[in-house]
This record gives sequence, C-alpha cells and structure tokens, in this order.
Amino acid sequence: MKVADAVKQIIGLAVVGGACFVIGYAVNITYFYDRTPVQPIEFSHKIHAGDNQIPCKYCHLYVERSRVSGVPNVQRCMGCHKIIKTDSPLIQKLTAYWDNKEPIPWVKVHNLPDYVRFTHKRHIKAGLQCQECHGDVASMSRITKVSSLKMGWCLSCHEKKSVKNGKDCWTCHK
Ligand code: HEC
Ligand code: HEC
Ligand code: HEC
Ligand code: HEC
Ligand code: HEC
Repeated sequence: MKVADAVKQIIGLAVVGGACFVIGYAVNITYFYDRTPVQPIEFSHKIHAGDNQIPCKYCHLYVERSRVSGVPNVQRCMGCHKIIKTDSPLIQKLTAYWDNKEPIPWVKVHNLPDYVRFTHKRHIKAGLQCQECHGDVASMSRITKVSSLKMGWCLSCHEKKSVKNGKDCWTCHK
C-alpha cells in the first residue's frame, strides 16, 4: 500500500469517527441528557429573576417548607401579566392557559430517582444558596441543569461541609 493510500484511509476513518462522535453527541443531548429542555412557554429566568430581580421564593414558594420547591401556578403569573406586556404573543399564549383553566405542562429539568431522599428545607435552613446547586439561574434565558445530581455530587459536598451522617446510606436511601 502506498503512503498516500494509507493517509487517505486514516483520514477516512477520522472523518467517519468524527461523524459518529457528532451524531452520538447530538443524540445524547436531545434524548438522554437533555439538560436544557424546551418549555411550553419560553419562560426566562433572566428576565424575571435577573433583569427584574423578582426573588426566587416569590415563585418557588415551598422551597423552605417542604420536600419540593414547587413551580408557580398560572395564577401567580397572571398576577403580573393581566397588566404587563399583554400585547406579546407569548403572554397571549399564557393567558389562553388561564382562560381555559389549564395548568402549564412545564417539563421537569431536575428529577431524582424515587429511592433517593432529598429535601430542600434542610439544605436552605443550613444556609446554602440556590446557586450552589443550580448555578446562576438569574442569567439563564432557559433553565438548564448544571449539576449532575449523581450520588458522588451529593457525597462530595457532604464531605466538604462535614455533614453529620452525611455519607451513611440510610441518610439518602429509604
Ligand atoms: C416569576 C417566577 C419565577 C421566579 C422569580 C423564579 N422562577 Fe424558577 N421557575 C419558574 C417557572 C415557571 C419554572 C418552570 C419553567 C422552567 O423550567 O423554565 C421554573 C423552574 C425552575 C427550576 C427548574 C425546575 C425543574 O424542573 O427542575 C429551577 C432550578 C429554578 N426555577 C430555580 C430558580 C431560582 C434559583 C430562582 C431565583 C434566582 C428562580 N427560579 C426564580 C418561575 C420562577
Ligand atoms: C412579579 C411580576 C411578574 C410575574 C409574577 C411574572 N412575570 Fe413574566 N414578566 C414580568 C416582567 C416585568 C417582564 C418584562 C416585560 C417587558 O419586557 O416589558 C416579563 C416578561 C415575560 C415574558 C416575555 C414576554 C415578551 O414577549 O417579551 C414571558 C413569556 C413571561 N413574562 C412569562 C411569565 C410566566 C409564564 C410567569 C409565571 C410563571 C410570569 N411571567 C410571572 C413580570 C412578571
Ligand atoms: C443542596 C442543593 C440544592 C440547593 C441549595 C437548592 N436546590 Fe433546588 N433542587 C436540588 C435537587 C437535588 C433537585 C431535584 C429534586 C428532586 O428531583 O426530587 C432540585 C429541584 C428544584 C426544583 C424543581 C422542582 C422540585 O422542587 O422538585 C426547583 C424549582 C428548585 N430546585 C428550586 C430551588 C431554589 C429556588 C433554591 C434556592 C432557594 C434551590 N432550589 C436550592 C438541589 C438544590
Ligand atoms: C452544596 C452542598 C450539598 C449538596 C450538593 C448536597 N447536600 Fe445534602 N446536606 C448539605 C448540608 C450542609 C446538610 C446539613 C443540613 C443540616 O445540618 O441540617 C445536608 C443534609 C442532608 C440530609 C439530611 C437532612 C435531611 O434533609 O433529612 C440529606 C438527606 C441530604 N442532605 C441529602 C442530599 C442528597 C440526596 C443530595 C444530592 C442529590 C445532597 N444532599 C446534596 C449539603 C449538601
Ligand atoms: C448524600 C446522599 C447519598 C448517600 C449518603 C448515599 N447515596 Fe446512593 N445515591 C444517591 C443518589 C442521589 C443516587 C441517584 C443518582 C445516581 O445514580 O448517582 C444514588 C444511587 C445509588 C444506587 C443506584 C446506582 C445506580 O447506578 O443505579 C445505589 C446502589 C446506591 N446509591 C447505594 C448507596 C450505598 C450502598 C450507600 C452507602 C454506602 C449510599 N448509596 C449512600 C445519594 C446518596
């Protein structure tokens, strides 16, 4: 085999390999690790929590009180959007949910398996900021998952903060 042919073959392999990598990567992003899913209404944390500085807890009411933070209902949105930006097509879409008395089917971004015990309450009471686990949400136009939520992620912070019983299996597993 001539050197030129060998080079061609190597380039060919590299191209095929590269293509597989790109396709695999795209499939991963769209189907398996969609950290930034498209939402039914383009809701921007940047506009609300960033530019307009609406506090996280104004919308995520239960973050200090219960297991889940909760996502605000349509009524919460309409408290402002009966008046604000009513000429926008996005707000008209929002208003249609309100008129039809339908909840907005927000796509969940964070989702731990059922066998894991996690409560916001204790973490917030311990003085942790939202950003430590969720990143700089106030600058996100579309919400994205920045932490893996894997066991190792939980354990490394528990170790760093010397959480009492923070590495015992039964602390996090029922
Ligand atoms: C005006 C109301 C509003 C404010 C203020 C707000 N959020 Fe949200 N948040 C929402 C809505 C609606 C969703 C669901 C739609 C979405 O994911 O974009 C959401 C989703 C989220 C999610 C993802 C939920 C999931 O499915 O896993 C996180 C995390 C979050 N918000 C954190 C924050 C933090 C941190 C702040 C403050 C910096 C904040 N939010 C301020 C309304 C709000
Ligand atoms: C405390 C008041 C307040 C609440 C509550 C609120 N918003 Fe907003 N929203 C605003 C403001 C202020 C703007 C920026 C308006 C502008 O650009 O002039 C905005 C802008 C928007 C826009 C962009 C509109 C466009 O065309 O530019 C969307 C979409 C939106 N909000 C959806 C929501 C949804 C969905 C909720 C409920 C989860 C919600 N908002 C809750 C105040 C609020
Ligand atoms: C110690 C890390 C940590 C901190 C701090 C934290 N979160 Fe979370 N958050 C998580 C995890 C883990 C989940 C996934 C929970 C699940 O799937 O059961 C989550 C889920 C959410 C969700 C999705 C709805 C839900 O509750 O399942 C929202 C909204 C949210 N967080 C908002 C906030 C806000 C607002 C703050 C700050 C006041 C905050 N979080 C602070 C780790 C954290
Ligand atoms: C950024 C740091 C941090 C991360 C990440 C974190 N934790 Fe924690 N966790 C803490 C701290 C600090 C405490 C101690 C709270 C206290 O002293 O009351 C704690 C306490 C706990 C407790 C015991 C208190 C309770 O709520 O019953 C559980 C369970 C727990 N964490 C689960 C988890 C799980 C599951 C994850 C991962 C999905 C996780 N944590 C991720 C910092 C963290
Ligand atoms: C601080 C919280 C925490 C502690 C402590 C903890 N885990 Fe986990 N564990 C998780 C989370 C979160 C997941 C789910 C995410 C994942 O698969 O990494 C998980 C998943 C698992 C899984 C399923 C893994 C898989 O690939 O399906 C097993 C098995 C497990 N843990 C065993 C243990 C054992 C055994 C211990 C004690 C030595 C332990 N865990 C302690 C948080 C914890």
